[in-house]
Amino acid sequence: MDLKEKILKLKQEKGALILAHNYQLPEIQDVADIVGDSLELSRAAANRKPKLIVFCGVIFMAETAKILSPTSKVLIPSLSAGCFLADTVTAEDVKRLRQEYPDAIFVAYVNTSAEVKAEVDICCTSANAVEVVQRLPEDRPVVFLPDRNLGNYVQRVSGRSDIILWEKGYCYVHEHIRKEDVLTRKQEYPEAKVIAHPECKPEVLELSDVIASTSGMIRYAMESSAKTFIICTEREMTYRLKKDLPEKEFIPVSESATCKTMKTVTLERLYRALQDEVYEVNLAEDIIERAKGSIDRMLEVL
Ligand code: 13P
Ligand code: SF4
Repeated sequence: MDLKEKILKLKQEKGALILAHNYQLPEIQDVADIVGDSLELSRAAANRKPKLIVFCGVIFMAETAKILSPTSKVLIPSLSAGCFLADTVTAEDVKRLRQEYPDAIFVAYVNTSAEVKAEVDICCTSANAVEVVQRLPEDRPVVFLPDRNLGNYVQRVSGRSDIILWEKGYCYVHEHIRKEDVLTRKQEYPEAKVIAHPECKPEVLELSDVIASTSGMIRYAMESSAKTFIICTEREMTYRLKKDLPEKEFIPVSESATCKTMKTVTLERLYRALQDEVYEVNLAEDIIERAKGSIDRMLEVL
């Protein structure tokens, strides 16, 4: 039996649910029960509540699964699977900002720690950030944490001029995608549509035909009559797209756009996680309760 078969057998024996983010290695995506964006994976954890969840993604995503399904045992196969963006803001930062902006509503992108989620008013993901902000009362300013590019995009689309951004917050994978990378690809594939993740810089978003979350990219490519797409996000996204839509062509904007921590989840580590039931995500009860409030308020919106 090869490792993939061993994982599938063990998964069945233990009744485990394997969730994988769209940026996971191809071989991990292939053994997962659900592959999706942050919002879809959060919903899957909330709706299914299985005894055992193995989360192939980064730590904040596994924490979100634990918050939404606290009775499940949630495992993350790699302890090195942090998120550079999530680490740019702490719960202490939020407490300090609350003093600076006492009237503001605090919105946190789901790419934050459970402690940060516990301190804010509402969460959002890249799939629903605009809608979440548009539905907030208009008589109070909004502090948007932590991704400055997503916040900037939300500001532009929602037309709200009272959004306070966190200048330290960005994702290095998306920040390193340059306007020149898109222009080069457009020259190589003049017919292609450009799809970008909202964590990209404004100069990249301006050149895009559509701005979408990772799963929003799949929906757009499915519905579009175009045959070729330039994908401005983490490189592995093209694996998921090619698998779902083999008749279309997907070109990563840059071969070097890769999230190193996502790739620390390997088949070997996934097997070990299932076998030894490591590494368990544990959160304090009060953090779960308060962070859940912020996530539930987001899920009620959409
Ligand atoms: P999605 O919510 O679009 O899956 O993105 C998560 C992420 O980490 C993007 O870098
Ligand atoms: Fe975090 Fe960026 Fe990796 Fe997404 S791609 S998990 S935002 S470091």
